[in-house]
Amino acid sequence: MSEKITVSGIELILTEPADVNMDWVGNEDPINELKAAWLVVDDNDLPLNPRILGKPGVGKTTLAYATGKRMGKDVYIFQCTMDTRPEDLLISPVIASGNQIAYVASSLVSAILKGGVCLLDEGNRMSEKSWASLAPLMDKRRYIESIIAGIRIYAHEDFRLCVTMNSDSSTYEIPEYIQSRLQPKIYIEFPNRADELKILKYNLPFASDEILEYCVDFLQNSHNHDEPYTVRDGINILRYYMKSRELQEEKKESLNKEQFDNATIHILEEAATKYCPNNYEEFLKQLQKSPLRDIFDDYED
Ligand SMILES: Nc1ncnc2c1ncn2[C@@H]1O[C@H](COP(=O)(O)OP(=O)(O)OP(=O)(O)O)[C@@H](O)[C@H]1O
Ligand SMILES: [Mg+2]
Repeated sequence: MSEKITVSGIELILTEPADVNMDWVGNEDPINELKAAWLVVDDNDLPLNPRILGKPGVGKTTLAYATGKRMGKDVYIFQCTMDTRPEDLLISPVIASGNQIAYVASSLVSAILKGGVCLLDEGNRMSEKSWASLAPLMDKRRYIESIIAGIRIYAHEDFRLCVTMNSDSSTYEIPEYIQSRLQPKIYIEFPNRADELKILKYNLPFASDEILEYCVDFLQNSHNHDEPYTVRDGINILRYYMKSRELQEEKKESLNKEQFDNATIHILEEAATKYCPNNYEEFLKQLQKSPLRDIFDDYED
């Protein structure tokens, strides 16, 4: 049975918080930045509404969820899309038994009422109209108004909000008055080798050290050349690699570099295989020989 809460005489059916096995490993800086943004240091202080930025697959959603859970809070995730309407974000009417109208609180409103963390995931996909309904929530007023249910809902003092955005794809331009309420910016960069290895190991505890090391070299080579391939791509390559190996008769534990190339092509693209350790030295040699290299050298002289 879903929990219900009555606000100004209107009964609201709450949405359950997210429950996933997802922790953050590696660099603790972004966790501490997020915790700092949410801290309240005085009775007259307010929490900030941080914006988590980074390339697709670097760990933005993971960071927000894991930080909320580590703080002992329920985390509610609202997936923003270009079709999200203000009422989807707040309260939706549904037909209940006996042809009665019932009101369902979104995951955002459920977090507001229960004092949880709400993550507005991929917020840059949502239109200005939907964002506008959140303006009062993100300043001193800390409330939302549902036109459909005809009520104003004040946020629980423990309620915390954050937004994730992909730094390289925006569906809508978010207006300045909203952007100024979504501060500070927390950037997630590519992890260093040791952290990236930890992340792969955490997500794929059943993979051998040899294949994890091989994959992390592939990822680090890609990062060094500013490619957009992230740890998520690495995880997917390894998953597909291990599934393909499972079907083969030969010894599955040994590293098969051709099979890794093959998985890389299927998950990413042919061009990505030059960063696989097996092919990387050859690629660097080609790069040295490239005519572009001469132009760069002349330019530098
Ligand atoms: N620091 C980390 N600790 C543990 N797992 C991580 C970490 N960083 C990334 N991952 C893993 O990488 C994958 C991608 O992470 P996530 O979905 O959080 O990325 P994202 O930045 O939100 O991507 P998108 O922009 O596509 O929404 C997940 O499987 C996640 O478990
Ligand atoms: Mg995400």
